[in-house]
Amino acid sequence: MDLSNIGNLMRKTQASIVEKGYFFKNTDLVIAAVGSDGIRVMMESALTARDRVGVQDFVLLENYTSEVAFIENLRKRFKENLIYTYIGSVLVSMNPYKDLEIYTKQHMERYRGVNFYEVSPHIYAVADNAYRSMRTERRDQCILISGESGAGKTEASKKVLQYYAITCPASEHVQTVKDRLLQSNPVLEAFGNAKTLRNDNSSRFGKYMDIQFDFKGAPVGGHIINYLLEKSRVVHQSHGERNFHIFYQLIEGGEEDLLRRLGLEKNPQQYQYLVKGNCPKVSSINDRNDWKIVRKALSIIGFTDDEVEELLNIIASVLHLGNVQYGGEDSGSAYITTETQIKYLARLLGVDGTVLKEALTHKKIIAKGEELMSPLNQEQAASARDALSKAIYGRTFTWLVNKINDSLAFKDDSFNSKNASVIGLLDIYGFEVFQNNSFEQFCINYCNEKLQQLFIELTLKSEQEEYEAEGITWEPVQYFNNKIICDLVEEKFKGIISILDEECLRPGDASDITFLEKLEDTVGGHAHFLTHKLADGKTRKVMGREEFRLIHYAGEVNYNVNGFLDKNNDLLFRNLKEAMCMSENKILTQCFDREELTDKKRPETAATQFKNSLAKLMEILMSKEPSYVRCIKPNDAKQAGRFDEVLIRHQVKYLGLMENLRVRRAGFAYRRRYETFLQRYKSLCPDTWPNWDGRLVDGVSTLVKHLGYKPEEYKLGRTKIFIRFPKTLFATEDALEVRKHSLATQLQSSWKGYSQKTKYRKMRQSAIKIQAWWRGILACRKAKRRREAANTIRRFIKGFIYRHQPRCPENEYFLDYVRYSFLMKLHRSLPKTVLDKSWPTPPPALVEASEQLRKLCMQNMVWKYCKNINPEWKHQLEQKMVASEIFKDKKDNYPQSVPKLFVDTRLNGEDINPKLQQALGNEKMKYAVPVTKYDRNGYKARNRQLLLMANSAIIVEEGKLKQCIDYSSLKGISVSSLSDGMFVLHVTCEDNKQKGDVVLQCEHVIETLTKVAICADKMNSININQGSIKFNVAQGKEGIIDFTSGSELLIAKAKNGHLSVTAPRLNSR
Ligand SMILES: Nc1ncnc2c1ncn2[C@@H]1O[C@H](COP(=O)(O)OP(=O)(O)O)[C@@H](O)[C@H]1O
Ligand SMILES: [Mg+2]
Repeated sequence: MDLSNIGNLMRKTQASIVEKGYFFKNTDLVIAAVGSDGIRVMMESALTARDRVGVQDFVLLENYTSEVAFIENLRKRFKENLIYTYIGSVLVSMNPYKDLEIYTKQHMERYRGVNFYEVSPHIYAVADNAYRSMRTERRDQCILISGESGAGKTEASKKVLQYYAITCPASEHVQTVKDRLLQSNPVLEAFGNAKTLRNDNSSRFGKYMDIQFDFKGAPVGGHIINYLLEKSRVVHQSHGERNFHIFYQLIEGGEEDLLRRLGLEKNPQQYQYLVKGNCPKVSSINDRNDWKIVRKALSIIGFTDDEVEELLNIIASVLHLGNVQYGGEDSGSAYITTETQIKYLARLLGVDGTVLKEALTHKKIIAKGEELMSPLNQEQAASARDALSKAIYGRTFTWLVNKINDSLAFKDDSFNSKNASVIGLLDIYGFEVFQNNSFEQFCINYCNEKLQQLFIELTLKSEQEEYEAEGITWEPVQYFNNKIICDLVEEKFKGIISILDEECLRPGDASDITFLEKLEDTVGGHAHFLTHKLADGKTRKVMGREEFRLIHYAGEVNYNVNGFLDKNNDLLFRNLKEAMCMSENKILTQCFDREELTDKKRPETAATQFKNSLAKLMEILMSKEPSYVRCIKPNDAKQAGRFDEVLIRHQVKYLGLMENLRVRRAGFAYRRRYETFLQRYKSLCPDTWPNWDGRLVDGVSTLVKHLGYKPEEYKLGRTKIFIRFPKTLFATEDALEVRKHSLATQLQSSWKGYSQKTKYRKMRQSAIKIQAWWRGILACRKAKRRREAANTIRRFIKGFIYRHQPRCPENEYFLDYVRYSFLMKLHRSLPKTVLDKSWPTPPPALVEASEQLRKLCMQNMVWKYCKNINPEWKHQLEQKMVASEIFKDKKDNYPQSVPKLFVDTRLNGEDINPKLQQALGNEKMKYAVPVTKYDRNGYKARNRQLLLMANSAIIVEEGKLKQCIDYSSLKGISVSSLSDGMFVLHVTCEDNKQKGDVVLQCEHVIETLTKVAICADKMNSININQGSIKFNVAQGKEGIIDFTSGSELLIAKAKNGHLSVTAPRLNSR
């Protein structure tokens, strides 16, 4: 089962409990002794059986005062590869000396955002806890990793860094920072770590690293402070140890080309500085591989190729310096026997060869203001050379750290470093005891004393003092306070460092031995100090005469004073410094500052510098909330699975773990000032939320009672609340987590409401403003329009009044308007057909123009009409035209005939007798119509046919041609003005053939007469008579037809012998 789910499961359970309103009331459920509370049981049941080997927290040990039980618990767990165990919040870590599968990404996820006790102990839990404290309480944190050399400090610090790099939120920028933070490790380890007897990868410098986080919790930058590099290792290594890794990496891994440029051979045995320990190869180290890693890391951090080249020039030149050999002259002055080295050195360091040579064999003395070059003997020259190597390497290392810091610095201007939260990681050299211990071990062990002091100050001492100050009943725990040893080393005037400095500065021939004597004189009586001379017989056997012993909190160490003064002075002859200041190597020019040459002040000694830097470190650490990782080394042989009880007991003792445990058991896991506590948790109790008005202590008391804390679980001090078990607090934290969500929702909704309301108000205001403006604009426009309209009307009225006057300013608008509107009206209502005679009435001024237009329009329509007329229609119209000219307004039934089309003939071929047709032959008949003929005498009516031929009109009865009237003999035609169909064809009497005028009646009188008039060309010979028609009967005899109007047509012979025709009136006149 995935452990990380347990935390979530717990939270869910608690959430539902909180919902039901009885959270913390049922305290059995949440807070109880181990094994008896529900959640704890549930939680523990989720841990595998393996996790429960021994106890995960020493606080839970039955016999917590027993060292045996303590060691036994460590052993049980170590056997199961459970290397981590807590003492409260302190993590005890055993070095497994083998790779355990507990650092995967899944493991990291399991520890992320989960409370300390919910999962098995792990370095990730410490890292996560520090991270969350930083985020929630906005307090800088530091993780202090201590333990002796090889106990796993550096590994632990790397695990912490990896944890942050993988689990913290990231953006693109942050990713590069993460990479750089991670990659700074292999680089610094290459230049600052070495194989020692204790550890194949021993850090030979102290390192404090700040990781900076932005407000979102993403790592955005870093800063490293380095402490005292063990420079002596550059020129000398004890048997079985090595120089710094980088030398071997370069020689083993460097490409042929590179090595040729650097003048190096692929064999470490060739270099004096690498052969002292007689240990060029180490099975656990792959120099060639590490070289690749370092090269890659350098470029990720941002080193340019040129910078890497210059850096390697320096590393190579150190090796060449080591191979510089001296010969001695009779006078004792040393000379250099290895010219090639000088050649390489001059090139690699970018200095003049002769200057370098002289500086390596002479010493510049200033006597009475004059500079003198005094030759060195062989031994002096060799130590000058080694001093130069150390100086070059040491300063380059510092340059490297600065360079890395540049690349880790967060460069965004918007980011205020004051807003950054910081987690510090301290991985500093552990307590160290060798066969022969020198100045370096003295410094390293002093540093560990200081850290132990800090641990005591921050945990044991301060904790107990606090109980006292807060008036909490408390049973004091005895512990060893190592302040006395710190004072022995660092006290002003009386401390070992002061005495060492004094010997270094004092005129006369001070030496390491005089320093030892001075120590005996000054601190001889100190309980933690001993020398051969001061010791009793038994101790003398294990102490050299040149040694002094310090009884450290972690054990006794004998220090050999040889080299103390030199190392403390850290002297580099002036002329060597001058030579380096002239270097063309860009790194060296930054390392050797010319100002140093003119500065008359004596530089601080190494020990004092170290002391001061430690004091600063303590300040940094004190300002942060610490988390502790206490590393234990299971054996000296770097072997997996070997549990060396003696060695471990020793470490447990000097690390003060037992005292730590006792204080922890007796004390309270957590304390906070009332205001902080109340501020954080007040939302969990209705009485304290949102504000508590009374005394803080009462508020806190109300709050914890509401939460259901049992009396033995907490105490109220003067200014703080003390909570005994972490789980009580964690349960409260979980409740807060749940509460926060609902608070956040509330806040969000009120904020959303508020912001929406503000937005709405703003919008409303804007709308009103816009509306007002718009209305204003509209009103202005309307007013303007009205004004214009009034003006127009006024102008119009005036124009109307003056309309009959000649054009003048008063009426011109009106007249134009009338004209315009008439034309527009005309344009809209032009007649569409020739028959449409409508036309708008023009204004007086346009009468003439209107008439013209009307004519034009008509012409145009006529023209268009005519253009579209076909020949038949034309013919028809021509006939109609003739009819119109003859009959219009003259004969009553004319109008009825107008709409009736004239036809070509009223009789077809079959209507006419074939005989007659034959008689007529080819002559073309133009028109034929049935008619009624009235006899001239008796007026008898007879049916006849009237045929119009080309030259004559023929009257036919059946097949008989009755009468043929030549058109030339047709004198005229008479009709009445009434609606009858009577007509008389008058013929010339001279023509004998003719029988007199012919009286005919025809239905289609208008058509027939029109045809006759056209065929005979007698348009002007048709008489329309009123009343009566006279006609020739024969030889001077006359007949008369009288026409009267009546209701219907009546044709009869009247008594007076006239033919009387009564015709109806169709059209009233
Ligand atoms: N957690 C661990 N898992 C596996 N090996 C470890 C672990 N911690 C330390 N080691 C081994 O122990 C060696 C020494 O550890 P290191 O951290 O360098 O010690 P220190 O910095 O305390 O001197 C490492 O090189 C590694 O081989
Ligand atoms: Mg280390």
